[in-house]
Amino acid sequence: MPDFALARAAARAEIRAGLRRTPPSISPKFFYDPVGSDLFERITRTPEYYLTPTEIGILEGNLGEIADGIGPRAVLAEIAAGSARKARIVLGGLNTPAAYAPVDIAEEMLAGQAAEVRRDFPALRVIPVAADFSGEFAFPAFDFDRGRIAVFYAGSSLGNFEPQEASAFLARLARAAGPGSRLLLGVDRKKDPAVLNRAYNDPGGLNAAFNRNILNNVNRLAEGDFDPEKWIPHQFYDEGKGRIELWLESAGDQTVRVAGEALRFAAGDRIHTENSYKYDVEEVLALAAPGWRPLHHWSDPAERFSVFLLTG
Ligand code: AVJ
Repeated sequence: MPDFALARAAARAEIRAGLRRTPPSISPKFFYDPVGSDLFERITRTPEYYLTPTEIGILEGNLGEIADGIGPRAVLAEIAAGSARKARIVLGGLNTPAAYAPVDIAEEMLAGQAAEVRRDFPALRVIPVAADFSGEFAFPAFDFDRGRIAVFYAGSSLGNFEPQEASAFLARLARAAGPGSRLLLGVDRKKDPAVLNRAYNDPGGLNAAFNRNILNNVNRLAEGDFDPEKWIPHQFYDEGKGRIELWLESAGDQTVRVAGEALRFAAGDRIHTENSYKYDVEEVLALAAPGWRPLHHWSDPAERFSVFLLTG
């Protein structure tokens, strides 16, 4: 089978298994079809979603120290880059970076990021890396005159993992990047629940649309007939668990056909679509400790968000 057909079959099987669990769930990785990616991009521009401008402010305000900690001729390896907007800021501050390597599972995503960076940095090597993060993975040899590998994991995407899995993932990253490499990690902090609830419930309804749109992608990937209009989106902070949760609640009794099955939902039944964990500084350092030692971290004055520089 060609690669894309294998990927499609795996996605379908994963969706089917998730929907049969109790409670039923859909992995947040299925948010990012073209419509979902665009909705997320628009969420990052709402005044309520402080995460993106706060992280950018921290990167821009501390670029000299960040660059000193990474060193000359680095390979900036960005995990799940999205728009590469933040990587372009970091690359602009680094001392003669040797390469930009966007790392992602979706190869279509990689091409777009690579093009944007090439436009801004015509002399820089751009080396897209397709990797499956669910198991052990390796970087290419980067066989040219270069300094360290600096892994860049921005946007608090780490929060999508369960804490144990986040720690294991960071340890795999450390093994792949090797001793002496760096990790530049952006993480959203625990804070007043009202601030968090506003960020994930913008008055324009973009977060709600983003949450619901996952059903359109599931329909496409697993021959489903979900009617998104029959699902009520919920996004809320659970302070005890330290995480934002996304759910879709069935507006009535309904039967949905998906991946060859007929699934019955009663009014009020819920499908889980995302966790987004929020962490204190000490919690991040503890999660990273199996692979990474802290060098420095920077925060905004209100301590809403922190950027960490660690060494492998
Ligand atoms: C891309 C996972 C960092 O958790 O804030 C935005 C995704 N979910 N609104 C986040 C998201 C709902 C976002 N991450």
